[in-house]
Amino acid sequence: LDGGGQGAFVHESFRTRVIARAGALEDLPGELASLGVTRPLVLSSAHSGRSRAAADLRRLLASMDPLQQSDVPQHASLAQVEATAASALRHGIDGIVAIGGGSVSDTAKAVAVTLAEGAPLARLATRHEVGRGFVTPNLLRPKLPIVTVPMTASGAEITPAFGICSTDGSKLLFRDGGVVSRVVLIDPVAQLDVPARILLETGMNGLAHCIEGLYSRRRSPISSVLAIEGVARFFEALPALHDAPLDAGRRMQVLVAATLSGQVLASTGSCLHHAICHVLGARLNLPHGFVNSVILPHAVAAVAPRVEVELSPACARIGVQGAARLAAAMSDLQVRIGVPRRLRERVPARESLAGIAQQVLHERGMANNPYQVDDPGEIAAVLEAAW
Ligand SMILES: [Fe+2]
Repeated sequence: LDGGGQGAFVHESFRTRVIARAGALEDLPGELASLGVTRPLVLSSAHSGRSRAAADLRRLLASMDPLQQSDVPQHASLAQVEATAASALRHGIDGIVAIGGGSVSDTAKAVAVTLAEGAPLARLATRHEVGRGFVTPNLLRPKLPIVTVPMTASGAEITPAFGICSTDGSKLLFRDGGVVSRVVLIDPVAQLDVPARILLETGMNGLAHCIEGLYSRRRSPISSVLAIEGVARFFEALPALHDAPLDAGRRMQVLVAATLSGQVLASTGSCLHHAICHVLGARLNLPHGFVNSVILPHAVAAVAPRVEVELSPACARIGVQGAARLAAAMSDLQVRIGVPRRLRERVPARESLAGIAQQVLHERGMANNPYQVDDPGEIAAVLEAAW
């Protein structure tokens, strides 16, 4: 965990313009014009598509004859992405507008990659090769620009990675710097009808990006500064939002912390906690925010003793006496903001956890974990604690 010796590091930043203010959504036509977009594909989920923001967006884009798809699922499949890309091609779209959370962002990225590189998408996924480890194809063709209006605190809109479900229910992971949103419009007023519960659960996901970024093997001095600040901001902003769920200023603070967390994730990748969350989410069709909320204290309890030094600056910022107490602070936060605390709240049968620990060992994110995990029992213990 010495960063390669003599402080050596690699850090990645991407080209994103972030506009954060009440009413930022009104900037959408101008931002699309400056990107040269004349006919966008507009993606939303069934939920985000019914929001006031989506209605405002339809009004703002009415003259552009956009192609609308308002039923992006929680875990999109390869077939769904390829079908959307095919209709986008027929419609002659030249840009993508994503309104929603991580699921909508991931679909937007996947459609952009499919349009540029061609179907089938599966051949472009990161794969594990014997003797070479994880291999991520270099995707060189230019991608259509994506403009995102985030409705949750995942931060997915500013990361190059995304996951799409394959036919066997596992999640294929992709990475392409060209699909990071070119513009992000953070508008706390436009998303006032998003339930605070969604922002709080996905805020736990954003918080997890910052925590894992602190000890990822791919961390850098730059990502660590962002991660420490992100942890501090989430610890302040989530309880504040819980106490005043319709306060636009407090929503803005959560969304800005999410942007920080996305910048951390974009450079550091994620570790053991997210490996568990990805397998649970894809296998049991659970929302990413829910699994993050439930798993985080238990994953931190497992990892923290090995990375006390890396966690200590963030602990100091939030007034936690040492990394050993960080897991308890996470549990306290769960209670304080009323997010889910037990897998059994949404997992009907304990038996459905069988085999998950084994699958987690082979997740891409385990390569970023600060120490090697070979024993599925270590992961099963986290799942057991979270049950
Ligand atoms: Fe995440």
